[in-house]
Amino acid sequence: MSTKQHGGQKTAETQKVAPAKGKLGVMVVGLGAVATTMIAGVEAVRRGLAKPIGSLTQMGTIRLGKRTDNLSPLIREFVPLANLKDVVFTGWDIFEDNVYEAAAHAKVLDAETLAKLKPYLQKIKPMPAVFDQYYVKRLHGTHVKKGKTKRDLADQLIADIRNFKKTVDRVVMIWCGSTEIFLEPTAVHRSIEAFEAGLKKNDIGIAPSQIYAYAALSEGVPFANGAPNLTVDVPAMIELSKKNAAPICGKDFKTGQTFMKTILAPAFKARMLGVSGWFSTNILGNRDGEVLDDAQSFKTKEESKLGSLEYIFQPELYPDLYKKIFHKIRIEYYPPRGDEKEAWDNIDIFGWLGYPMQIKVNFLCRDSILAAPIALDLVLFLDLAKRAPSLRSIGIQEWLSFYLKSPQTREGLYPEHDLFIQSMKLKNTLRHIMGEGLITHLGLEYYD
Ligand SMILES: NC(=O)c1ccc[n+]([C@@H]2O[C@H](COP(=O)([O-])OP(=O)(O)OC[C@H]3O[C@@H](n4cnc5c(N)ncnc54)[C@H](O)[C@@H]3O)[C@@H](O)[C@H]2O)c1
Repeated sequence: MSTKQHGGQKTAETQKVAPAKGKLGVMVVGLGAVATTMIAGVEAVRRGLAKPIGSLTQMGTIRLGKRTDNLSPLIREFVPLANLKDVVFTGWDIFEDNVYEAAAHAKVLDAETLAKLKPYLQKIKPMPAVFDQYYVKRLHGTHVKKGKTKRDLADQLIADIRNFKKTVDRVVMIWCGSTEIFLEPTAVHRSIEAFEAGLKKNDIGIAPSQIYAYAALSEGVPFANGAPNLTVDVPAMIELSKKNAAPICGKDFKTGQTFMKTILAPAFKARMLGVSGWFSTNILGNRDGEVLDDAQSFKTKEESKLGSLEYIFQPELYPDLYKKIFHKIRIEYYPPRGDEKEAWDNIDIFGWLGYPMQIKVNFLCRDSILAAPIALDLVLFLDLAKRAPSLRSIGIQEWLSFYLKSPQTREGLYPEHDLFIQSMKLKNTLRHIMGEGLITHLGLEYYD
């Protein structure tokens, strides 16, 4: 393929990205608030009932070439993304509720909207899940697979994937399940062989999310992790992802408070304003809030949320400004609010000659309304990655950090948390795979 040029710098020749032909099957693990809001939303958009607001793949444009070229196509027209009309959903849950019932339970979308979508939503019924209460203390699932070993369970998931594959052309899997307890990598995660031996021995270090991920990656199916679980963030999964050309990304959808943090913190750093404290608290009353009310699941979420400031502020480079930040995060389960979370941030900053100032952020957000378009974009972009020769076998898709609270990176490489750097990285990756010039924003060429 020849390299295209629109006035920007040329990138290296790239092989062609395969077109998005036929149906894209999306296997969703956990049909709760986020998943049902995504599925119902996609159907509402397909029927022309609503706009896909918040989705970069559906509404975003991408500038090509010089500013004076006036060329900014829609992303979905620039790269060969699956069309929403070709997306087919299925999934697993530990409860038997169909997607209509689960969405009604989640109370994110109003009854009137759900009623219009009911015939479609009630047809999507979850397959029995792989679940173990040891890993999510607050849930008691009944709709679960039985198996003597974790290997048996993985094989049952592989059979589910193979069956679904018969009905669609390509498959992607996304974890929208509950947050599991905090786990650290152990010997069982070190290689594919160790992991497979661990499956047979029911190793305690293998959580259900990893059994799903293993099944997906073994079948060459890309996998996104929307929760803060360890899941694919271990060498065995990275190896499997590369081996079977099944792109991965994670973890934890970047929605409310961390989204705000990764906008504000880069601004303070850009202006060399100091920060002495950042206190964040939330109230939320959905099932996610209930699960996070358990200390071990909260620990997983807390770790995921804490990292962003440390990486953005680089206290080792700027000790006078960021060495002594007191950073604290609370999540309180408060049922009356349901999915309509409220978040407060108190930020103590200091400026010229050390004079202190304060900023308060009060975000009354809707958790799943923010997360649903992220889940959709991740699914569509992972499917694109699988068809892009330069992305499909690299394992971790760092360019999707934009959507994630705790972006997965190669070992030894620090994650990029700044939302605007992440956005540039994402768009330049799209330009790169399409053989377009990258945009550096240098701008000197306009003043020659
Ligand atoms: N809502 C947000 O804005 C947001 C943001 C970032 C991350 N997340 C994460 O996304 C995940 C989903 O959030 P939610 O608000 O939809 O929660 P939810 O509780 O409404 O949905 C989770 C679903 O997963 C199911 N589940 C749990 N374990 C399972 C398993 N092993 N197999 C199959 N199904 C399983 C549960 O039964 C439930 O239906 C959570 O881990 C949450 O922390 C959500």
